[in-house]
Amino acid sequence: MYTPDVIGTPLAPNATKVLLLGSGELGREVTIALQRYGVEVHAADRYEGAPAHHVADVHHTIDMTDPSAVRALIDEVRPQFVVPEIEALATDALQDVEDEGLATVIPTARATRLTMNREGIRTLADRDLGLPNSRHVFASSYDEFLEGVRRIGMPCVVKPVMSSSGKGQSYVRSEDDLRRSWEYAMSGARVSSGRVIIEQFVPFDYEITLLTVRSVDPDSGDDATWFCEPIGHRQDRGDYVESWQPAQMTTAALESARSVAARITGALGGRGVFGVELFVKGDDVYFSEVSPRPHDTGMVTMGSQRFSEFDLHARAILGLPIDTTLISPGASAVIYGRVDSGESAAAPTYSGLAEALTVPETEVRIFGKPVSHERRRMGVAFSTAETVDVARERATEAASTVTVGIDPATPGTTSDSGRWGRS
Ligand SMILES: Nc1ncnc2c1ncn2[C@@H]1O[C@H](COP(=O)(O)OP(=O)(O)OP(=O)(O)O)[C@@H](O)[C@H]1O
Ligand SMILES: [Mg+2]
Repeated sequence: MYTPDVIGTPLAPNATKVLLLGSGELGREVTIALQRYGVEVHAADRYEGAPAHHVADVHHTIDMTDPSAVRALIDEVRPQFVVPEIEALATDALQDVEDEGLATVIPTARATRLTMNREGIRTLADRDLGLPNSRHVFASSYDEFLEGVRRIGMPCVVKPVMSSSGKGQSYVRSEDDLRRSWEYAMSGARVSSGRVIIEQFVPFDYEITLLTVRSVDPDSGDDATWFCEPIGHRQDRGDYVESWQPAQMTTAALESARSVAARITGALGGRGVFGVELFVKGDDVYFSEVSPRPHDTGMVTMGSQRFSEFDLHARAILGLPIDTTLISPGASAVIYGRVDSGESAAAPTYSGLAEALTVPETEVRIFGKPVSHERRRMGVAFSTAETVDVARERATEAASTVTVGIDPATPGTTSDSGRWGRS
């Protein structure tokens, strides 16, 4: 893996360049963190005005699932690093770029390919590594699905193999749910592969994200692994609503969590931040999934850690030293676009910021997305406090104080929400 000895000057011929594939709110923070080290950042997304587009040195709008479009952009930009920010990418093109030595893919091309499909990552975790995880089977037809549910038993969880943010995901509790669950999975898949995973429902006590960082150990010069304090979070319909750090865990559960995280990230390899999602029941830890990039629930680290997950990703990409120190208990809460179902608002407005920032030890980020719609993540509030409980109250209060407004006269405001993607 490439580690630059020197950093060039942005926009000069010797620039150290990163191409970000996906320009959402997480990518925006990664962009800023890289720019602070003098890196030239190119941010790509499928639509104009994505959050990282606003801050990147250069922005690009392409279809990132089209291998030739991805390859053409890499050939044009000639970045040293390609940093995927989303799952839905032409990962074969990234593999070619890595194989030809054109750029370093973060963390690796294989990691982006395996994690974009639940079948790839679960098979690695379960069959190759033997990590504890819920019993599961895959199905490609309704008959296979019925057979799968019979084998796993009810209740179980059904998800398209390629989907995120809870899309197409449902619980099967009784026979009555079967048909609806299958049809929902077929309609919610990002890529209509027609394939689903059927997982045993894990009656966990709580779930965490364990941010795990792989970078170069300055003492040995070898790759090494660091862990952030565990992040607790609450999901609603498969999307995160609030997160907090540190999550209270028993010593045994924390040790298991770190062991699982070290093994899965070690198997994926490369450098960068990983968000390892785990379910915890007593002292038992179950692997759920892993993002080979910063995690949405990790936005809390912008307040709670000396270096946020975005700062750490920037350091890890460049092979720099890592410091995962927690400076205070903290929490984050999402600001959603409060538009009625079926409506979209172009150029939304934000009010209540002054009041939100009267909440002690609190900060707000507004992502500047060009269109707001119901349940789209438009901003985040994060707070610190002496305890996680107080931090959660603060972040939730601040987030609920910021209101996303709609101006029905703004061109592009519609009642057709199907025209825009989610993030
Ligand atoms: N087998 C399971 N047992 C119990 N709860 C589950 C199970 N699988 C998923 N969940 C719940 O649903 C949430 C979303 O699941 P998962 O992370 O697999 O989906 P996702 O669409 O990839 O979500 P995201 O992209 O937001 O992480 C989990 O965080 C958990 O709360
Ligand atoms: Mg998840």
